[in-house]
This record gives sequence, structure tokens and C-alpha cells, in this order.
Amino acid sequence: MSELSFKDKVVIITGAGGGLGKYYSLQFAKRGAKVVVNDLGGALNGAGGDSAAADVVVNEIKAAGGIAVADYNNVLDGEKIVETAVKNFGTVHIVINNAGILRDSSFKKITEKDFKLVLDVHLNGAYKVTQAAWPYFRKQGYGRIVNTSSPAGLYGNFGQTNYSAAKSGLIGFAETLAREGERYNIRANTIAPLARSRMTETILPPPILEKLGPEKVAPLVLYLSHEESDVNGEIFEVAAGFYGQIRWERSGGVLFKPDETFTAEAVAKRFSEILDFDDSKKPELLKNTHPQALNDYASLTRAARELPPNDNSGAPK
Ligand code: NAI
Repeated sequence: MSELSFKDKVVIITGAGGGLGKYYSLQFAKRGAKVVVNDLGGALNGAGGDSAAADVVVNEIKAAGGIAVADYNNVLDGEKIVETAVKNFGTVHIVINNAGILRDSSFKKITEKDFKLVLDVHLNGAYKVTQAAWPYFRKQGYGRIVNTSSPAGLYGNFGQTNYSAAKSGLIGFAETLAREGERYNIRANTIAPLARSRMTETILPPPILEKLGPEKVAPLVLYLSHEESDVNGEIFEVAAGFYGQIRWERSGGVLFKPDETFTAEAVAKRFSEILDFDDSKKPELLKNTHPQALNDYASLTRAARELPPNDNSGAPK
């Protein structure tokens, strides 16, 4: 297979002054991309700022003969980051929503400020950058978006209600972007990585950290960003050399008939059937808008179809 080149492609990588984003930047540049290295250079909790973080990466790219420009804006000023891309390189083809902070706290103790700030940087920041890039994607009939979720966004994690909420929000965000962008050759996917960085270096033991290099995450990000890849609206877990796809699974479910009462007690009685995954499906909700696919979609619509019109027989008396 020939090398996946990014020659003349313009990529914005947010939070690219360190960790995963830095490594992505170097790799995109090595393959010919023009890279906007965005980072406001703050602390892990989002405090402060320093232009040095992005500058170091840009200098490294340039020293290796690559093309890059530094951008020090907060992702919440997404339009300014896209402006940097357009001013320097004429457009933007790829957005890697990677910037992030941590403000961990048990839910009992979390403050509204810490809850909102984490949602702001991860989720609203991704929204702002992506929305500013969207018109360019549509106009040129080409765009790639990679959102960065986390295992905490998929499964939850103690002390991270803010982070988990933001990270699972990024999944839904990409899933809908994928639908809306499909006909413009815009593809949006999400990764849930685990990697060695300042986010993990105080949490995980050194022998594990050693195996979690960013070079094991970057290949998937590069592939999902390439014009050859048609993957859209999907979620991937990636760490330590493992690459896997995550998808939803729905139990076979129970279809209550009109002659059954729709009550909490009826649900309780059949709850073990509701939880039974023996006949499970992998739902493809609205992925395919062909009427037949929509027809096949969910037990919900199936139930609606099978009920006689204006049926009230199951309503509580
Ligand atoms: P990192 O802390 O090295 O990188 C995050 C970067 O984002 C930092 O350089 C920081 O200055 C920048 N940043 C923070 N707020 C910003 C803002 N408002 N505007 C612009 N830049 C901002 O950590 P790492 O590990 O490289 O994280 C990258 C992404 O991967 C994050 O979204 C993180 O949540 C996610 N992630 C990382 C995991 C890991 O194991 N390292 C696990 C799961 C997700």
C-alpha cells in the first residue's frame, strides 16, 4: 500500500503543545500536511497560559523541513483558530479536537465552576472550532473531524462526572456531524485513547505508562483523517497497540401488546426479558436514511407501527 500522504492538506490540531496532540502534529507534518499547532499552554487544570508550548512544536516541525504555524487561542475562540489556518494556508481540511483539561472531583464535592469549565474546554471548544471549519469543509466537499473521547466517556470513572459528561458528549456530537456532513464528504469519528502524557503520568504505574506511547494512537487518527478513509460516525478505543471499534448493542427487547397494561408493574414483571441480550441487535440508528433502513430501525418504531391508530387500551385506567 502506498503511503497515506497529507500533502497540501491543512490540519488544525487543538491542544497540540504536548502529549498526544504534539505527536499528531509531528506526524501530520512529516506526511506533508500544513499544521496549525493550537495550544494556549495552560496547566493541566486549565489555569494560565504560555505560547512556548505551541512554539516548541512548530520549531520542531520546521527544523525537520515541515510546514506549521502556532496558534495560542483558547478552543472556545474556535473561529480565531480557523482564522489562523485560513490566513496562513488558505483553508482547513482536517480538525483534530484534542484539547483538554482535568478538574477531577467526587460528585459530592464538585463545584459548578469545575463542572462547566471541563465541559467548556472539551465539548464547547470542539463545537466552536468545528463550527468555524464547517463552511470550508462543505464548500470544498472535503472535511475530516476526529473527536477525542475517553474510556471515562464510555464507561464512567470515579471523580470524573464533568470529564465523562464532556467526553460522551463528544461522541454524540460526532455521530450527528457524521450524518449532516455525509453528502459533503465530511467524515466525523471519535477515539477513546489511553496514552502516556501529563494526564496519566501521575495515575498509572511506570511499567504501564511505558507501553502507552502516543505513537500507538496516532496511526488511527491519521487514517481516520485521510481522504481514503470513508469511516463515518464511528467510535474507536485505542491504546498500547490495541485498535478496536465500539458500537451500541440493544437487547432483543420486549414489545408490549395493546392488550397488556403499560404500567410500572408490567415493566417490573418482564424486566429480565428486557435485559436479555440473547437476541440482541447492533442498532444503526438513522445511519442510513433509506426508508427501509428507517423501517428496520428500532423496537420503538416497531411498537408504534404495530399499535392500532389512536390506541388507548394500554393507558392506565
Ligand atoms: P495533555 O494535557 O498533554 O494535552 C492537552 C493539551 O490541551 C495541553 O497541551 C493543554 O495546554 C491544551 N489545552 C487545554 N485547554 C485548552 C484550551 N482551552 N485551548 C487550547 N488548548 C488547550 O494531555 P493528553 O493526554 O495529550 O490529552 C489529549 C486529549 O486526549 C485530551 O482531550 C484528553 O482528555 C484525551 N485523553 C487522554 C487520555 C490519556 O490517557 N492521555 C485518555 C483519554 C482521553
